[in-house]
Amino acid sequence: MSVSSVEELFLDELKDLYSAEQQITKSLPKMAKASTSEELKAAFEEHLNETKGQIERLDRVFEILGKGPRGKTCVGMKGVLEEGAEVLEEAEEGPVRDAALISAAQRVEHYEMAGYGSVRDYAKLLGQNEIATLLEETLGEEKAADKKLNSIAKSVNSSAMKMAHA
Ligand SMILES: [Fe+2]
Repeated sequence: MSVSSVEELFLDELKDLYSAEQQITKSLPKMAKASTSEELKAAFEEHLNETKGQIERLDRVFEILGKGPRGKTCVGMKGVLEEGAEVLEEAEEGPVRDAALISAAQRVEHYEMAGYGSVRDYAKLLGQNEIATLLEETLGEEKAADKKLNSIAKSVNSSAMKMAHA
């Protein structure tokens, strides 16, 4: 399919985000399980619930557009998650692995923030105000999740530092 208008680009990127969110719901339970920090584990579990809500929001967006959400695989998210899984295997269980999990999760959040920021802007340009509001809500959640990871990183990273010569 060739993409030759903002409308088509909008739909294309929405499908990409739909695929990304589906992939994230599969990865988050594994990330929670791999966390040793209770705070981090809880943050991943909470974001899994939030992600399910984000998928529902996207379902609503597709409903408004009268289009189906499927048909694309977000290759970018696939790569980001694969890299995260790889580092998980390499890092020893404990605070260093927790630090690696946070770093991987923040890559996911930033990827999503870029995606949602773009589609929110397209929605506004296309006069799809209800959709723009829905996407803005999700963008806010991704930003909050990223911020929360930043604050958890402070304690996790300082614990990880103590592991340096253990
Ligand atoms: Fe998300």
